[in-house]
Amino acid sequence: MNNKAGLNIDGQTFELDTIVGSEGEVGIDITKLRAQTGAITLDSGYGNTGSCTSRITFIDGEKGILRYRGYDIAELAKKSGFVETAHLLIYGELPTSEKLSAFSKQLTRYQLIHEEMLHHFEGFPSTAHPMAILSAMINAASSYYPTLLEKREERFDNHAARLISQVRTIAAFSYRKAKGLPIIYPKSNLKFSENFLHMMFSMPGEDMDINPDVARALDLMFLLHADHEQNCSTSTVRMVASSKANLFASASAGVCALWGPLHGGANQAVLEMLEQIHAEGDDGSKFLQAVKDKTSGRRLMGFGHRVYKNFDPRALIIKEQCDKVLAQLQVSDPLLDIAKKLEEIALADEYFVSRNLYPNVDFYSGIIMRAIGIPMDMFTVMFAIGRMPGWIANFKEVMEDPSSRISRPRQIYTGPTLREYSPIGERS
Ligand code: CMC
Repeated sequence: MNNKAGLNIDGQTFELDTIVGSEGEVGIDITKLRAQTGAITLDSGYGNTGSCTSRITFIDGEKGILRYRGYDIAELAKKSGFVETAHLLIYGELPTSEKLSAFSKQLTRYQLIHEEMLHHFEGFPSTAHPMAILSAMINAASSYYPTLLEKREERFDNHAARLISQVRTIAAFSYRKAKGLPIIYPKSNLKFSENFLHMMFSMPGEDMDINPDVARALDLMFLLHADHEQNCSTSTVRMVASSKANLFASASAGVCALWGPLHGGANQAVLEMLEQIHAEGDDGSKFLQAVKDKTSGRRLMGFGHRVYKNFDPRALIIKEQCDKVLAQLQVSDPLLDIAKKLEEIALADEYFVSRNLYPNVDFYSGIIMRAIGIPMDMFTVMFAIGRMPGWIANFKEVMEDPSSRISRPRQIYTGPTLREYSPIGERS
C-alpha cells in the first residue's frame, strides 16, 4: 500500500506518513501534525489512537485473537504456566529450562516483603478495600529499595521478580488482616499459585493439602490476565513510566486504574450483579430488560469490550475452566446458572447482537474465584496479580525505548475565553 495518507484542512492538503505493524495494522503517523498544520486530533476515550508501538501483545478484536509475544493465548493456556508466561512477556522469549529455573528461584528469593512493611498493614482499617491496600503497599515498597531509582539492568531483573512475587504476598496478607487472621508466610517449596493458596487459607502449625486442580485453575486465571496491550491500567503504567518514575510507583498507579468497575473491577461487579439477580428471584430475563432501557443506568457487567467485537478468547477458556472447577469441587452454584441464562438470552438478543456485546474475561472468572473461596472484594486484586508481568513488560519497553518521550496529551479547550477578575462584592 501507499505509505502516505492525505489530510485536507480548509482546502490545504497535508501528507502524513503511515506505519504498518507486523500483523498488517495501519497507523497514520501524526507526530508532526500540529507543527505542520496547527491542528490536533481529538479522540476522547482513545478508541482510534495508538499511543505507542509495542512488541508485547497482539489483539485482533474483530477475529477474537489474543497473542503474547506471538503465541496464541489458547496454546499458552493449554501448554504453559503463569511463571513461564511471565518470563515470556517480560523478556520476549519462552525460557529454556535453566532460565525458567533461575527466574523461579528469583521469585522465591524475593517473595517475602520487608518485615518493617508489616507495620503499614496496621494502619489500614479492617474495612479497607484490598485494592486500596495493594496500591498503597506497592508504592510503599518502593521506599524499601532505594536501588529502584538506578537503571542498571540486573537491578531491574531483581525488582521485577520482587514485584511479581510480593504482590501475591501483599494480597494474601491483606486478606488475613481483613479477616483478623494470623499472617502466613510463603513457603519456598511451593509453586507460585500453590503458595498463594497456602498464604490465603493455611493456619499456623497445620499442614494444608493444596488441591492441584484448584492451583492449576488459579495459575490459568493469572496467565489469562497477564497482559492485554494498551488497556486503561497498562496505559497508565506506561504513562507514569514515561515520566521516568520507578517500577513500583508505575505499577501502583496501574493498580488504581484497574480498580474501576469498567475495567478490572468488573469481576467483582459481575458477582454483585448475579447476587442481586438471585436475591430478586429473577432468572436474568427481567434484569436484561432493565439493561436495555438506557434510563435504568444498568449494564450487563462482564459483557462488552472496547476492542473485542467478537468473543473474548479468554472468556471461552475461562468458561470451560469454570465448569471443570465447579465439577471437581462438587460445587453447585445458582449464580452460575444465572450467568449461563444471561449469556444465552443476551447472545440471541438484538440489543446485544447489534452492538457486538459478548461475554468478556470477567463474566466467569468471579464464579471460579468464589468456588475457590476467594472473597468478592479480592477479585480485582487477583486480576492485578495476574496483570503484573504485563505491566512490567510494558514498563521495560518504555524504559528501553531511546525515542520514548513523556506522555503528554493535548486538549481542545471549551471553557470561557479571557475575562476580567471581579471583586467578591461585585459577583452575582
Ligand atoms: N451492557 C449494556 N450495554 C452495553 C454494555 C453492557 N455491558 N457495554 C456496552 N453497551 C452499549 C452501550 O450502552 C453503547 O450503546 P449505544 O451505542 O446505544 O449508546 C454501546 O454498547 C457501545 O458501548 P460503549 O460504552 O461505547 O463501549 P466502550 O468501548 O466505551 O466500553 C466497556 C467498553 C467494556 C467499558 C463496556 O462494554 C462496559 O461497560 N462493559 C461492562 C463492564 C465490563 O465488563 N468491563 C470489563 C471489560 S474486560 C476486562 C478489562 O479489560 O478490564
